[in-house]
Amino acid sequence: MKAKITLHKDRVISQIDDRLYGSFIEHLGRAVYGGIYQPDQKTADDMGFRKDVLDLVKQLNVPIVRYPGGNFVSGYNWEDGTGPKEKRPRKLELAWSTIETNQVGIDEFQEWAKRANTEIMMAVNLGTRGADEARQLVEYCNAETDTYYADMRRKNGFDKPFGIKLWCLGNEMDGPWQICHLTAQEYARKACEAAKVMKWTDPSIELVACGSSSKDMPTFGEWERTVLRECYDNIDYISLHSYYGNRDDDTKGYLAQSLNMDAFIQTIVGICDEVKAEKNSDKTVNLSFDEWNVWFHSNEQDKQIPRWSIAPHQLEDIYNFEDALVVGSLLISLINHSDRVKIACLAQLVNVIAPIMTEDDGCWLQTIFYPFMHASVYGRGKALNVDIACDTYDTKELKNVPYVTVAATENENGEVTVFAVNRSLEDSAEIESIGFDGLKLTSHTVLNCDDMKAVNSFENPENIVPAELPVDGQLILPAHSWNVLRFS
Ligand code: AHR
Repeated sequence: MKAKITLHKDRVISQIDDRLYGSFIEHLGRAVYGGIYQPDQKTADDMGFRKDVLDLVKQLNVPIVRYPGGNFVSGYNWEDGTGPKEKRPRKLELAWSTIETNQVGIDEFQEWAKRANTEIMMAVNLGTRGADEARQLVEYCNAETDTYYADMRRKNGFDKPFGIKLWCLGNEMDGPWQICHLTAQEYARKACEAAKVMKWTDPSIELVACGSSSKDMPTFGEWERTVLRECYDNIDYISLHSYYGNRDDDTKGYLAQSLNMDAFIQTIVGICDEVKAEKNSDKTVNLSFDEWNVWFHSNEQDKQIPRWSIAPHQLEDIYNFEDALVVGSLLISLINHSDRVKIACLAQLVNVIAPIMTEDDGCWLQTIFYPFMHASVYGRGKALNVDIACDTYDTKELKNVPYVTVAATENENGEVTVFAVNRSLEDSAEIESIGFDGLKLTSHTVLNCDDMKAVNSFENPENIVPAELPVDGQLILPAHSWNVLRFS
């Protein structure tokens, strides 16, 4: 197959917000306990954080990590995770039917975030709790005043405020599975009042309101309209969540899923701007795609987990090669929409639907680690407009899916990176590149495998790893491949 990539260097989509490459740690499964924190593990540091995990998180160069949930946050009392560890309560955790020991809370996580070179995107509980506890948490984390919650932080050993700038107003409050799920109107009022008092406590913070938990929810669209109409002046972003999967083992259809992400983003942009117009407002509300990933492999096995376990193996999807191509194409979609998607979080980071997996003896990297790392490391700077002309195919759900999908970025040194997925299962793509005048291809990194279902594991960690292709001669994207083309 032949494909033509046309780069429009002078047509900048947007400066990419670094937070597009965020991730997520929830108190769920082995994300915290046995993931980032394992005091008796051989690499554990003075606070019990696994240094092997920290090193890999740093390799991913993750700028923000959403915490502590997820569904977990809707039943969480943040004070349980502060102060002397021996006094912290063990509690029934109703979102995932486990026991929460509270040995890690915001006191520890803010220190982990520093050690991981990242910032926290903090979620507040708008399920069992409300505005009062949310503003108290903002005071605990951010206030310099001589007042009750700031003093409580000092008493717990933290003189300096944590300085958390980005906050989520609850999590997936439209979902009946959520602890104390709300109707759109109930949530909109609650979120609006919480937002006001949180910003009155610290005017420098930014707030993300809950959008729908997926675009398949019965209230999708109306939920966003209701929330935006009520909260518009008090929030900065609205959230999008979406998980993808190949449940029917239809690889061609699965590889086209990023078109659904494109459509989802475009719909939410439309709703935001519709409410902006209704209100005749100068303000633009942007998008926080704060949960996205592939999630389906572990669904069946998770049904076997006994209730009230501590840190069970939960949501431990083992990602295969085709999942990595899907994650790559979703990253391409996010970059191409970076004019409105300012924040995005790969859900999640360690052990739970994650790129990084731990065992007591060490870590291993899932297939999806690589496209995420490539985008996070090389996809900074400006997103550039790039066109693709190539053959298309139809799936059961979608028509005219281009075999090749691309995004282009330019960093502050003028280096251009093109990310490309060739979705064809049969044909490589012979590339004609236009608009690259003055630029020379310096590297071509590829992730490719004959077996679409091949996985990495602790025993075989390098089954699927990126390789370097020659940069002279005809540029070819192999059949079913993720490609990182670097030009300078
Ligand atoms: O990321 C796993 C779960 O997916 C989160 O807890 C929830 O917000 C979503 O449904």
